[in-house]
Amino acid sequence: MTKILASKELIQLQKSKFKEECANLSQKGITPTMKVILVGENPASVIYTRNKKKFIESIGGACEIIKLPADISEKTFLREVDQIANNPEVHGCFIQLPLPKGLSHLDLSKLIPPEKDVDGFHPDNLDLLLRGDTGDHSLLPCTPKGIIKLCNHFGIEIQGKKVLVIGRSMIVGKPMALLVLNHNGTPTISHSRSEDIESIAKEADIIISAVGRAKFLDKSWIGDKKPWIIDVGMNQDENKNLCGDVDTESIKDLVKGYTPVPGGVGPMTICSLVENLITATKRQTKELQ
Ligand code: GUN
Repeated sequence: MTKILASKELIQLQKSKFKEECANLSQKGITPTMKVILVGENPASVIYTRNKKKFIESIGGACEIIKLPADISEKTFLREVDQIANNPEVHGCFIQLPLPKGLSHLDLSKLIPPEKDVDGFHPDNLDLLLRGDTGDHSLLPCTPKGIIKLCNHFGIEIQGKKVLVIGRSMIVGKPMALLVLNHNGTPTISHSRSEDIESIAKEADIIISAVGRAKFLDKSWIGDKKPWIIDVGMNQDENKNLCGDVDTESIKDLVKGYTPVPGGVGPMTICSLVENLITATKRQTKELQ
């Protein structure tokens, strides 16, 4: 039986844990506080930031979405980010991506101080990843961290396994491959210039697709090995409905299991963001060393 790796049950478990942690912090007068910087009105970003705020408030944290105009000057944007990120009452902060054209050239990685960097993009946090951190008590990129948690929940072993990561972005592909390595897996990263990815895919125990193309991964990628499929894609199909990178109809009888879209990796990313916020809060208030 092919397993559908829905994250709903795990999210409920994580939520209960976060609520308890927030209640403990609240007794000490501490409320985990997040500021989200949203520039412009990209419809997907508006929905994502709203969902993140809802999650944080549901566990007893505070979250404000600070909306900046799409045509903001670079100078004003940098000043605003500096003020928000360095406010001592803020424990966690991130800039929702993508940014509008006028700002998309900026290197954002050092704008949020590392101790508040809930996205895990700061070089100091990425350095932990390079040094072998497994992400339990550190601010590591949210999607890779969420995928590892989902694999653990469903008993999907990573140690010793061949894991193909399709996509080499700074947000998913690269940190994902490092995190797999830190969990003793054997990662391969493939990308748009890779030759013969299909034969690598046919040898993989786990395929993680972060390509951003609807129905990109179909049965032509699947061999006899019955891999697990982790779908990071958030695309629109021909009817403008949300869909992943994976053509589920095509692969569903050939794999051990797959993450649905929606209801798979997406909620795990938000869950890791909230976990990072709680870790950041505890560190800054000396509740965690
Ligand atoms: N946009 C899509 N994914 C992400 C993410 O992980 N972090 C931020 N800040 N923006 C995103």
